[in-house]
Amino acid sequence: MRYLVGKCSIYLVWEGCKRYAETLEEAVLEDFLVRDTFDRKIDYLRISVTDRCNLRCRYCMPEEGVPSIGNGQELSFEEIYRIAKVAVEQGVRKIRLTGGEPLVRKGLIPFIERLCQLPQQPELTLTSNGLLLAEQAAELKRVGLQRVNISLDTLDPERFAQITRRPGLDRVLAGIDAAEQNGLWPLKLNMVPIRGVNADEIADFARLTFERDWQVRFIEFMPVSGGLDYPPESRFPAAEIVAALKSIAPLQEIARQGPAGPARLFRLAGAKGVVGVIPAVSEHFCGKCNRLRLTSDGFLRPCLFCADEIDLRTPLRAGCDDDELVRLLRGAVQIKPERHRIAEEKGNIPARGRKMQGIGG
Ligand code: 5AD
Ligand code: SF4
Repeated sequence: MRYLVGKCSIYLVWEGCKRYAETLEEAVLEDFLVRDTFDRKIDYLRISVTDRCNLRCRYCMPEEGVPSIGNGQELSFEEIYRIAKVAVEQGVRKIRLTGGEPLVRKGLIPFIERLCQLPQQPELTLTSNGLLLAEQAAELKRVGLQRVNISLDTLDPERFAQITRRPGLDRVLAGIDAAEQNGLWPLKLNMVPIRGVNADEIADFARLTFERDWQVRFIEFMPVSGGLDYPPESRFPAAEIVAALKSIAPLQEIARQGPAGPARLFRLAGAKGVVGVIPAVSEHFCGKCNRLRLTSDGFLRPCLFCADEIDLRTPLRAGCDDDELVRLLRGAVQIKPERHRIAEEKGNIPARGRKMQGIGG
């Protein structure tokens, strides 16, 4: 009996030591791989799958569009998959696909399906302008996409054509319905209020939450790359957005959506859904930023507003192994700046000639 108890204790101590060593190893790994120099945990990768778009929003693209980076420079889905796989193995837990407009790229659905089949099962989401969602929502859901953020800046068809230089509000509204019906939930709408353009619609957007269990988010306009058609003075600051919301109904602030979400969330008294305000410029949320970005031509961008980029395409095409990709990913995490300086730089952000559609927003 004593022998058995003794053996059992030795076994338990041994198991305990093993577990302790594993925990230690996990902790060291986690800190080493995904923490940046400012102690932020980097576990979110935004992937721009194309710089092309079927709209020409005035704050994002010039009328003629931008010379697309072209097929030779655009990463193939196979190349993006390799990067995503390594990133997920290194601790990335959430992937968002962006553009341009991601739904214009052929082959997106099977690509999403492969990402969803990664053993680590990263959370997979997408940001879209909604134009092609009515046709694709069911397939997107079927292959495993969890939810979509839909960008919409006006509920007026003529104004839509004015802001985006294309008709199509009815198709976007149909896309929103399709997303909802297919369970791409919770549904988030992103609206960018611009002074003198659409800021007078804040209340109309917010009122949608009385009937719909949506998250309607107002993003402070960021005058990036000169702001294109809208000057920096068009920025409608977060404080004014909140004031506009308060004029509709009593506003109750609710908890943020997880530690890293940039939106301040509120509920209008009696509403089913919630409204959010993203103070992109006035109250930068860099201290909580958990993301890296991959541009569609294969550069890792540690910060939306800083010019530093790490070239993954050249080493990928030169046949580099996964260890090299890990080293480059870690390098990007290590040079992530503490904060952006967009307010100080008044919109003259060095973006290596990229406009918003080339980075993915
Ligand atoms: N300021 C604020 N939001 C912007 N977006 C694109 N450009 C800007 C900008 N200059 C938003 C889009 C979309 C998301 C991807 O980024 O409206 O909702
Ligand atoms: Fe396209 Fe989005 Fe840019 Fe509009 S803001 S042109 S929808 S990428």
